[in-house]
Amino acid sequence: MKLPRPPKVRMPRIPKPPVPKFPEEPPPGPTRPSFWRSPLRGPWLTSILGSALLPLILICAVTGFLSQAAYNPNLGHNSLLPGGGLGVSIYFFHWPTSPSWLYAFTQGLHVISGLAAMPILLAKLWSVMPKLFEWPPVRGAAHALERLSLALLVGGSVFVFGTGLLNIQVFYPWPFRFLTAHYYGAFIFLAAFGLHIFLKIPVALRTFRERGVLRPLRAGLDETVAEPYEEGHVAPLEPARPTISRRALLGTVGAASLGVAFMGFAQTVGGPLRELGLLTPRSTQLNHGPNGFQINKTAAAVGIGPEQTGAAWRLRIEGAAKRQFSREQLLAMPQYSYDLPIACVEGWSTTQRWTGVRLRDLAALAGVDGDAELQVESLQQAGALREVTLSSGQVAAENSLLALKVNGEDLSLDHGFPARVMVPGAPGVHQTKWVATMKFRAA
Ligand code: HEM
Repeated sequence: MKLPRPPKVRMPRIPKPPVPKFPEEPPPGPTRPSFWRSPLRGPWLTSILGSALLPLILICAVTGFLSQAAYNPNLGHNSLLPGGGLGVSIYFFHWPTSPSWLYAFTQGLHVISGLAAMPILLAKLWSVMPKLFEWPPVRGAAHALERLSLALLVGGSVFVFGTGLLNIQVFYPWPFRFLTAHYYGAFIFLAAFGLHIFLKIPVALRTFRERGVLRPLRAGLDETVAEPYEEGHVAPLEPARPTISRRALLGTVGAASLGVAFMGFAQTVGGPLRELGLLTPRSTQLNHGPNGFQINKTAAAVGIGPEQTGAAWRLRIEGAAKRQFSREQLLAMPQYSYDLPIACVEGWSTTQRWTGVRLRDLAALAGVDGDAELQVESLQQAGALREVTLSSGQVAAENSLLALKVNGEDLSLDHGFPARVMVPGAPGVHQTKWVATMKFRAA
């Protein structure tokens, strides 16, 4: 039996978004191709700069997300992002405690790769400047989307690298929270970056096939000529005479990149190199602080004085049992000494010899044997990190300490007197100073 044909349904017409009308002739200035005359600009320069940026940005991105993981954001109130981040944790492991320089390494690499990328990023943006002034600014819906993705790429890169740079300069000229903005800004930037790589790798490969990867570097100033003009690409329509060769330009950018990367390296590695980290403020301040090495926050800055840390101070520990110990009682317990770094999120680190009571011995005193998590509370009243939760692995590590001394001397007030936590491999902000209470619980 033949079924009756279904009635034809007329789909409602979706009106096309209106495309603004721009005059065909670009206005005088940077929207005209003849405005951009440097003979060095072209797909080869853009591709070689992009190829140098790619590994640096990948290293910076991976180590940036590892820096979040280092906080063990799944525990207690450790997540420094509002509401715990995206609501779904992307971390399924606890941060390891070995090697003890783990965070110094990953965060040092984050800052060094970010610094090294900056001169190259500036040169890359210079090389593609004509495309940012393309005329007409919007040709249709697809073109508008492409322009939006470029705005997110360029804006995102400037925002993420710019905020990172100012943060390591300890300069916060903005009303928002650095960490939240830097973290979510990185997501936006990396999404636009992924799309850009996908679209431009073929252009870069074609350019390298046609012109060679390093061949253009052989040309001195006299042999430097512009790449052929192609509509939609960045080579100039009316090239001027070169004033510098491509190799001199790349040499300058490379030297700037290595120079700033070295400063980051000096503040991470420390030792005699430290003083050479000239543009990293924490490097030049080192070795002049109390106990002879760097601090980020003084006791005075967080309102802690001798009245809270004097003879009346007691360490409260809680678990199956609640107990209190004076500093003298803690000093009478078995003491252990280890070389452990303080590794700051700003990329500097410093390794010192710390002495104190093992965290796992304190867990046993609190009556929590086996897997124990630890919530550490500081005398510090304000700040996101006045309360930190350590994982059972961090409590159990044989070199995790409640430190009472450093380099054989009592801790100074600025370094956390009467007692501070020192956990191997952890970020500096988890080495809680001026410890008041330790709450152990079964993990
Ligand atoms: C933060 C990183 C980057 C930024 C901000 C950036 C920005 C831009 C912009 C604004 C353009 C011009 C628009 C266009 O041609 O569509 C462009 C073009 C291009 N980029 Fe990138 N880019 C970045 C990284 C990279 C990387 C890693 C590569 C490596 C493959 C790359 C390769 C290219 C190529 C081949 C072009 C086309 C040049 C031409 O057609 O003449 N870019 N980039």
